[in-house]
This record gives sequence, C-alpha cells and structure tokens, in this order.
Amino acid sequence: MARILITSALPYINGIKHLGNLVGSQLPADLYARYMRARGHEVMFICATDEHGTPAELAAAKAKKPVAEYCAEMHEVQADLAAGFRLSFDHFGRSSSPENHKLTQHMAGRLKAAGLISEVDEKQVYSIADGRFLPDRYIEGTCPNCGYERARGDQCENCTKQLDPTDLINPRSAISGSNDLEVRETKHLFLRQKAMRDQLRDWIKSKKDWPILTTSIALKWLDDGDGLQDRGITRDLDWGIPVKDGQADWPGMEGKVFYVWFDAPIEYIAATAEWAHANGLGDEAWERWWRTDKGAEDVRYIEFMGKDNVPFHTLSFPATLMGSGEPWKLVDYIKSFNYLNYDGGQFSTSQGRGVFMDQALSILPPDFWRWWLLSHAPESSDSEFTWENFQASVNKDLADVLGNLVSRVTKFCRSKFGEAVPEGGTLGPREEKLVADLTERLRAYEGFMEAMEVRKSSAELRALWVLGNEYLQEAAPWSTFKTDPELAAAQVRLALNLIRLYAVVSQPFIPDAAQAMMAALNCTDWSWPEDVGAALSMLPAGHAFTTPEVLFAKITDEAREDWQTRFAGIRT
Ligand code: MF3
Ligand code: ZN
Repeated sequence: MARILITSALPYINGIKHLGNLVGSQLPADLYARYMRARGHEVMFICATDEHGTPAELAAAKAKKPVAEYCAEMHEVQADLAAGFRLSFDHFGRSSSPENHKLTQHMAGRLKAAGLISEVDEKQVYSIADGRFLPDRYIEGTCPNCGYERARGDQCENCTKQLDPTDLINPRSAISGSNDLEVRETKHLFLRQKAMRDQLRDWIKSKKDWPILTTSIALKWLDDGDGLQDRGITRDLDWGIPVKDGQADWPGMEGKVFYVWFDAPIEYIAATAEWAHANGLGDEAWERWWRTDKGAEDVRYIEFMGKDNVPFHTLSFPATLMGSGEPWKLVDYIKSFNYLNYDGGQFSTSQGRGVFMDQALSILPPDFWRWWLLSHAPESSDSEFTWENFQASVNKDLADVLGNLVSRVTKFCRSKFGEAVPEGGTLGPREEKLVADLTERLRAYEGFMEAMEVRKSSAELRALWVLGNEYLQEAAPWSTFKTDPELAAAQVRLALNLIRLYAVVSQPFIPDAAQAMMAALNCTDWSWPEDVGAALSMLPAGHAFTTPEVLFAKITDEAREDWQTRFAGIRT
C-alpha cells in the first residue's frame, strides 16, 4: 500500500467552469484518485477555489456584490457542481482560508530570511478619487489604434492591440470613472527566481519519467532568451492575502496583497490543513502528507493541470518551496493536458461559448459526461466536442455495450431461473477462454490507469465490456437453455458475476452506474478482481438480486438536435 497525494489545478472563482476546464484537471484527477483508492492505496485528493486577483474583484463588481460575499457564494456553487460530477475530493478548500493566509505569509517570511526576496520601486497609475493604485485592467480609455472608447490598460478588446495604460487617450478609472489619475512610485516584492535557476534545473533534469510536454515547457522558461526572470509577487489590490512575513508587518508594503499566483499553489498545502481542521485533526495529520521530516518522504505526489499552468508548477511553486529552506514535499509527477474545443471553435468563459458544468448536469446524468470527456481527453493533442460524436459514443459504449449486457443477463435470469444466482452446471472451454481474455485486458487496463493514460485506459475498459458481450452472443444461454439448462445456469451465473466485476473496474469512470449495478446485485464487496477466475465465482448460487432499471437511456436524435441549437449561441 502506497500513500498518494493528488492535487487538481484550482478553478478560478470567477464563474462556472466549462467542460474543457473540467476535463483538463479535476476530472482526470478524480479518475486517478478513485482508481488508487480502489486498489487499496491511501489517497489524499485536494482541490479548492482560486479566489484572489483582479478577475475575482471584477466578477464581484459585475455581480454588484462585495467580493468576499461573491467568493463565498461562488465557492458553494462550484462545490455543488463538483459533487454533481461526483468529484471525490477529500477536501475542496478556499484559497482565501485563514490556513492559506497563515501559510502564504509564513512562506514569504522564510523566503525573505533566505535573501530570496527583493524590493523593487515601480511606476504605476494611482487614482486619487479611488485612493488606490490601478492594475492595468482597471484603467479604461480610448484606443489610440481604433478609437474604441472602452479599451483597457492592457489591451483593446475591439482591435486586440496590446496596450500600456499610458497609451490610452483620456484615461480614467474603471472603478469610479474618475480621470484624476497620476503616475506614482510604488514598491513591490520580487521572488529572486534567477538565483534558484541551477537548483531548479537540476531538479527538473532529475525527473526522467516526466512527459516531454512538461519538461520542455519548464526548460524553455529556464533557458530561453534572458532565462528565468524574477517575479513580482505583490499587487495593489484590496482583496487578497495582506503582505506580511508571518511574524510582523512588512514596512513599505501596507495595503498590498500577494499576487494570486503566489498564494494559489500554496493553497494545495493549506487546503490539506483545512481538511485536517474540518475533521477535528491536529497539524500532524496534514503534515504527514507535506513535510518530508514528518512522514511525507514516502508520499507520491501527482499534480493534474492544463498545459498553461505548467510553468507555475515547474518553476515558481517549486522555487517557493525550495527557497523556504523547509522540507516541503515537491511534486513527483505532473500530468498536463491540451485543450478541448467546442464544435469547431474554442470553449470560452469570457464569451460564454460551449457547455458549462451546470448546463451539462441539467440535461444528462454525470456518468454520460464523465465517460465521453475521459474517453476523449485532450492528452497528446487538442480534442473536440461535437454533439454528434457525443451522442454516438455514449449510445454505443454505454447503452449498446455495457447497459445492454446488464439488462439482458438480469432479465433472462429472472424469466428462466428467478431473481437469484442460478445453481448447477459446470463451465467449459469457452468460459476458460473468456477468463484468460479478460485477465489480459484487465492487466493492460491497470497498467494504463497506473500510468495516467486516460484515453488508453478508457479503450481497455470498453474492450473489457465488449468481451462480455461477445461471450454472451456466442454462449447464447437463451438457446442453450432449451437443450442444456444446467449449462445455461452456469453461464448466467458467470455473467451475473461479470456484472459485478464490471461495476468494480468501471467505478472510477462511471461511479453512479457502478453503484446502481452493485445495488441491483445486492452486493457491497468492492474488492478489486486480482484473480479474474475467482472474482467470477464470487456471488454464490442462491444469492438474490433485483433486475435494474435501464442503466443508460439512449440519446435520441431529437434531444441531440435540441441541445445543439440550445448550446450553439453565447451564454449570457
Ligand atoms: N486558477 C488557475 C487556472 O485556472 C489555476 C491555479 S492552480 C494553482 O488556470 F496552482 F494555483 F493552484
Ligand atoms: Zn482598438
């Protein structure tokens, strides 16, 4: 038994996530967590909402709510949707938690003591009416390029030209509209990543088993052009973690907060502390996952994320942890994803394009989405969601293959033998062959799941289901029954046990269906089929079951067309 720590990139608080976000981190992380638990390992699976930064402040302003209230509400919304998709977090935390305030300030203090923080004077726009510095996105004005009157300090939305706040004609505050602005000097903290370059490079080079996608992104930022840059880790915002060093105020940093990308990954650790506290446990309970001097030396730590998150997780976050000089657990393996596209374009939160988590659950149960998304995960390249493909895959794999087998076996048994596992008869060479074939496929499935090869795992699982269907087709107990009812009984007994085996091995992908199959079989033994032959004689003759309702209703053409039109436009 191993101890496995799993984190999923933290979803931003500023709205409901779309299916592309879901399949890029949280869903595959859940698949892996479920599988590892099913194999008997001790798992800690952590996620949280990423609540700081300008986007959170802007979203709250748009919703006309105080930012703390907005974040608290959106956290609940996201937690409910995660539960709706059956994401099995051990804890779904908040980066605004007291635990994260404390730990982020502590880390900054350690970095300061190690001489890894520098103070830099910068020029920035100050709004006298608002009494604050304005980040680029909070300054509006007329675009010098196209004349658009609501261009932002970082970019003109109309003509896409990248801008500096000083380029804008008639600049004004996006908060109050005031044009009483001036440029002032302000001090910010920088993390001296450059000084840690060799240490980071050695560490990345030591990761021989990391995918090229991950290491190449990391090495590119380490070595390209001027190489790794020192990074600003503070901002002039109200909402965030106040800049302190864990013991005292930080002179000159009054009114400033840490940059969202500084505190967000620290929340992986803080959320584990939140978990401990929520469960009435002491600090040693979370420290044994994160401190190599307190038991974490034999933890295997895996991070799941979209490819755009890789630089932060291979460079800045490890720099924070290493630079602290404390024995924090560093990541062992990073599983990163490409993008999922939507019907010939991109999913887009800002444009409201695609299917969002709440909408998905309002039309179909979570297993349908989980199955399609995972079996089409954008691993080696980007992948695309189309309604036609979704309908075809789900109908074929879930309804025609798995659902059909469950329904045929249970219904046939009920009509000929009653609702209990039939007795008598012995199995023949056909069944021996089935056991051998299943064993081979199952070992391949385990290998891919272990390696986090999501698509390949789904293909092996589908192949396992297909083997059962083919067997049933050939053995045809409904014909055998007429000439050799004893043999038919043995075949049906095997097939009922096969349903249990499928429930156990499919559970990481489709947990609700697996639960329904086990409930119908009246079975609570979820033990993994280490030995397929033995697993297929687990439910003994006479064991009562109930014939389940339809496991997966097929998606009709009308429904598909209806959704296609409903989700073609832009969400408002
Ligand atoms: N919120 C970020 C995003 O969606 C991810 C944060 S991951 C963490 O891209 F490392 F900061 F936690
Ligand atoms: Zn413009």
